[in-house]
Amino acid sequence: MPALVLLGAQWGDEGKGKATDLLGGSVDYVVRYQGGNNAGHTVVVGDQKYALHLLPSGILTPECTPVIGNGVVVDPSVLLSELSGLNERGVDTSKLLISGNAHIITPYNVTVDKVTERFLGKRKIGTTGRGIGPTYADKINRVGIRVQDLYDESILTQKVEAALDVKNQLLTKLYNRRAIAVDQVVEELLGYADKLAPYVTDTVLVLNQALEENKVVLFEGGQGTLLDIDHGTYPFVTSSNPTAGGACTGAGVGPTKISRVIGILKAYTTRVGAGPFPTELFDEDGQALRRIGGERGVTTGRDRRCGWFDAVIARYATRVNGLTDFFLTKLDVLTGWEQIPVCVAYEIDGKRVEELPYSQSDFHHAKPVYETLPGWSEDITKAKSFSDLPKNAQSYVKALEDMSGAPISAIGVGPGRDETIEINSFI
Ligand code: GDP
Ligand code: IMO
Ligand code: MG
Repeated sequence: MPALVLLGAQWGDEGKGKATDLLGGSVDYVVRYQGGNNAGHTVVVGDQKYALHLLPSGILTPECTPVIGNGVVVDPSVLLSELSGLNERGVDTSKLLISGNAHIITPYNVTVDKVTERFLGKRKIGTTGRGIGPTYADKINRVGIRVQDLYDESILTQKVEAALDVKNQLLTKLYNRRAIAVDQVVEELLGYADKLAPYVTDTVLVLNQALEENKVVLFEGGQGTLLDIDHGTYPFVTSSNPTAGGACTGAGVGPTKISRVIGILKAYTTRVGAGPFPTELFDEDGQALRRIGGERGVTTGRDRRCGWFDAVIARYATRVNGLTDFFLTKLDVLTGWEQIPVCVAYEIDGKRVEELPYSQSDFHHAKPVYETLPGWSEDITKAKSFSDLPKNAQSYVKALEDMSGAPISAIGVGPGRDETIEINSFI
């Protein structure tokens, strides 16, 4: 007992950082299990705002041990600058643990990400350009570099050689770029070895021993369910498994250990990058959601696409993750709308469809079927319990809960740690 998973139920940026940080005080370990510095998790503590990319949001809680699991892809230069940035702000990061099996985002992976996107032109995915896809591709192709390789120069050199053999052909012959020198990459990577050494360990062993000792372990997902490589809107997805199963493979913990799976769900919907998004708004409502919700990417600074809440997606997230709870965020952003449309089903080629279609072509044609719920105008940011919310806000939450298939156990009414209504305790 007890391991919890906390993950995004939509297309990312649901407020996972805030939710993880909130639970941080009650857990012993916070573990990132997939993704890399494509994530941007915002945590607001008092008047301090932190933007975390690679580090688990538990890093801001002194009692908590932050862990980067084997399923994460690590850009060492980003990691070291994130650590020193936090140290300069007085945050102690010495408890961090990094899996020796995690794969490294090498400089050539970042180059390949950028040139591939440019080459795709209009068909691009709109990646974060952080080398995520190419690094996972190398992992699956068995030509990846792992953190532990930094401690064996000969192995590292052989592996970089093997990886660059093919990539340099592609870069020079297809993409018209300069070849990347093996020595330069090896030298750069070796330069990180000593700095990372204090953190590198067998995190699988540490986490399983912790669970045997009844410690509380929280797995923090990056991205979200609809960006999952298997269950998301492929190919407009990231290259890892943010869904609940990813926590098991990405941290080396068996599914029997996980007792709770919490889906972080925004009270409306956003998406960054390309791909289908049935409830996307192109009108003033969309602009208002973006403005009021501050919907601008933490990692790339891109404007987020905004739209109304989509219950079909929420139901899908409940199913593929086995969600036990939802944490509904940003309810306060909806204050002031007289009427709030909620997508309850899709219309696809003239037919009403209640569940997410498995065919990508169908999903691209899906038109939202809306039900309109009455809004509220009262400020809700000071609400501490469900009964403090105006009646219409209560009804909105209840309606979302009924449509989404799992209880809403917490509600975010502002970005701060304390701007949360807790309904059922998570731990
Ligand atoms: P993450 O990637 O899922 O961690 O989410 P991001 O940090 O990218 O985006 C969520 C944004 O919403 C951040 O700016 C948070 O500070 C903010 N936020 C989180 N919860 C709430 C909430 O309940 N209300 C408001 N107004 N902002 C919130
Ligand atoms: P957090 O953890 C929102 C999106 C990118 C792009 C696609 C693939 O903050 O919720 P990648 O660089 O991963 O290969 O890009 O995935 N994406 C995110 N969108 N939030 C994120 O993380 C994201 N991480 C990746 O915009 O569409
Ligand atoms: Mg984010």
